[in-house]
Amino acid sequence: MSRIRKISKRWQKISLTNKGHIPVMCKEIVEYLKPSERKCIVDCTLGLGAHAQELLKHISPQGRLIGIDKDEESLTLARERLKEFEDKTHFFHSDFRNVDKVLDSLGLESVDAALFDLGSSFYQLSAFGRGFSFLREGPLDMRMDRSIFISAYDLINNLSEKELDYIFKRYGQERWHRKIAHCIVEERKHYPIATTLKLAEIVAKALEGRSESRIHPATRIFQALRIVVNQEFESLGIGLEKIAKFLSPGGRICVISFHSLEDKIVKEAFKRLKANGRFKVLTSKPVRPSSWEIKLNSKARSSRLRVAEKI
Ligand SMILES: C[S@@+](CC[C@H](N)C(=O)[O-])C[C@H]1O[C@@H](n2cnc3c(N)ncnc32)[C@H](O)[C@@H]1O
Repeated sequence: MSRIRKISKRWQKISLTNKGHIPVMCKEIVEYLKPSERKCIVDCTLGLGAHAQELLKHISPQGRLIGIDKDEESLTLARERLKEFEDKTHFFHSDFRNVDKVLDSLGLESVDAALFDLGSSFYQLSAFGRGFSFLREGPLDMRMDRSIFISAYDLINNLSEKELDYIFKRYGQERWHRKIAHCIVEERKHYPIATTLKLAEIVAKALEGRSESRIHPATRIFQALRIVVNQEFESLGIGLEKIAKFLSPGGRICVISFHSLEDKIVKEAFKRLKANGRFKVLTSKPVRPSSWEIKLNSKARSSRLRVAEKI
């Protein structure tokens, strides 16, 4: 069987066993994190547990994995998937910015490897009622942690035009940020904008005849709102700083990001760790998924992996 056919078969199998969710750069993560040599791995973004499952399959006999996610529903699904590794896994409903508290609660002073696979999960994008996707009708929510108070609805209906404009420009990197913010504010004078499809329709209308991009006109607007609702960039900076302190010598951090600003935060955090003489960076340039992975999983297209190792 040719190499590409073998790989396709393996990916089809992975995709089926993960009920549609394909973990990004899974092979690279196992290669860099070397689970067979580790006693303790932290998956800071457990999601549906697909990366964790691969790591647990290879983890050393005494090894254990700590899985953190701020989305309680994802944790429930991951728990189900990882049932066979029950005695090796600890689950925590928390923001990874609190990783120090999670590890303290287990009495751990160090860990050997950490993974961050940023952004939203396949489950969040496809679940009715979560409001992450502009392709499915649902309330404008987008909270990963449903115990927080501010949702995308609150931002869209309460922020000023100037504030919306700023968010769309900075976090969405949307060329037509001003026009879209203006159209939203005009529209909400008549009624609150409450659903995903309504917002997507307003954005598409605002960009009529303007956007030449191949992506859906609402992609960047939804991305910007999700980042702000979940304070994703703030958590990332804090989480990386904290996990660096807990890593044992030879321990590695892998970060997969999907947004150029996210990647910049990772790059700068690694640069600071290197400058302090505490880490070496193993990826001078971010690792990109192979062309066959992109063919099989178009969501991998924008992913970038950076890896650092504690000295
Ligand atoms: C791309 S998914 C991870 C998928 C996972 N690697 C897998 O294989 O199933 C990202 C996950 O990280 C979670 N997440 C994002 N930011 C987080 C944060 N600051 N703290 C904890 N979990 C976070 C999301 O709720 C989501 O479930």
